[in-house]
Amino acid sequence: MANQELEAKVMETLKTVMDPDLHKNIVSLGFVKNIKIDDGNVTFDVELTTPACPVKEQLRNECQSKVKAIEGIRRVEVNMTSNVRPTQHSQPILTGVKNIVAVASGKGGVGKSTVSANLAVALGLTGAKVGLMDADIYGPSIPKMLGIPITPPMGGANNKFYPHEKHGMKVVSAGFLTKEGQPLMLRGPMLGGIIQQFLGNVEWGELDYLVIDLPPGTGDVQLTLTQRAPLSGGVIVTTPQEVSLIDAEKGVRMFEQVKVPILGVVENMSYFICDGCSKKHYIFKHGGGKTLADQFKVPFLGEVPILNQVVEGGDNGVPILLSHPDSPASEAYRSLAGQVAARLSINQAKEEKVDATFELAWKS
Ligand SMILES: Nc1ncnc2c1ncn2[C@@H]1O[C@H](COP(=O)(O)OP(=O)(O)OP(=O)(O)O)[C@@H](O)[C@H]1O
Ligand SMILES: [Mg+2]
Repeated sequence: MANQELEAKVMETLKTVMDPDLHKNIVSLGFVKNIKIDDGNVTFDVELTTPACPVKEQLRNECQSKVKAIEGIRRVEVNMTSNVRPTQHSQPILTGVKNIVAVASGKGGVGKSTVSANLAVALGLTGAKVGLMDADIYGPSIPKMLGIPITPPMGGANNKFYPHEKHGMKVVSAGFLTKEGQPLMLRGPMLGGIIQQFLGNVEWGELDYLVIDLPPGTGDVQLTLTQRAPLSGGVIVTTPQEVSLIDAEKGVRMFEQVKVPILGVVENMSYFICDGCSKKHYIFKHGGGKTLADQFKVPFLGEVPILNQVVEGGDNGVPILLSHPDSPASEAYRSLAGQVAARLSINQAKEEKVDATFELAWKS
């Protein structure tokens, strides 16, 4: 069979491979690129919208087996690549940063910074370019969690400064702007300025994802932050206890108020796994985070177990994902990252669809 004919068959076959999140086939989505056929050997790229795609391997296998079954094809090589798309936002004050995700919790101490750090690390491990901004001006904990000494950031031209780099990501913390151990004393109106500085005056370079660890609570401070930053979406962290869930509900409402899409709710310290037993022990109430997510019709992003290794990771400056990649907590953080990235892609596809409809209406 001529190469051209074979290529047409391959493309026809790939039209039966559906992206389960975007509900379209990978050919019409424009994902299939650089197809080459030589003597029955075919290679092509599948360019996804995120390297953190949770169904990447599933898609690769489906492409592989379906194309292999075509008569005349001897060998198939599928290269999974990605090109993260930027969120369209009305206030694009951060050139080069494609998506900004804020992590919030109504209540303090529920593990928000730990989730932020591990979410950022998990996204980075997939190959994405990642930044982490610790906006907790009252109790910045990211420098300690990542093992970065409190040193002032390096200055650049035009009053800009460079983020610190650690574990493959760029990091900026309110902690770097203070003397160690002394909280930054700020009044409400000054906050907007600080955030603007953090966002506009940092040389972030090119980033696929910037994760922001917000201060705990849902008061004016958090509201200012969520309004001033051009956010792509928000993640809410809760624990299973009722007091935490009530506050998490306030977090959901805060994002709704400022019209930031909620990417989902994650329940931290959900269950305990004791030594030598693989059973999940739900020491607190079970299912609260899921119920909250269902109530507000937002995605539930999973349960993170309560584990000593998580605490050790936070204290030693090496997040559990890097020190114990096989831990069930690491598994939960990876799954969280995949879902967050997938949600952002889905939201962008919806926006693009709206634009396309608008264009059609305008043309007719
Ligand atoms: N899954 C977990 N298992 C065990 N310990 C955890 C887990 N998640 C977080 N922790 C621990 O709980 C403590 C609080 O976590 P963290 O600092 O991330 O919470 P936070 O919500 O950011 O707190 P704050 O409100 O002070 O900013 C830390 O000591 C952390 O190591
Ligand atoms: Mg914190």
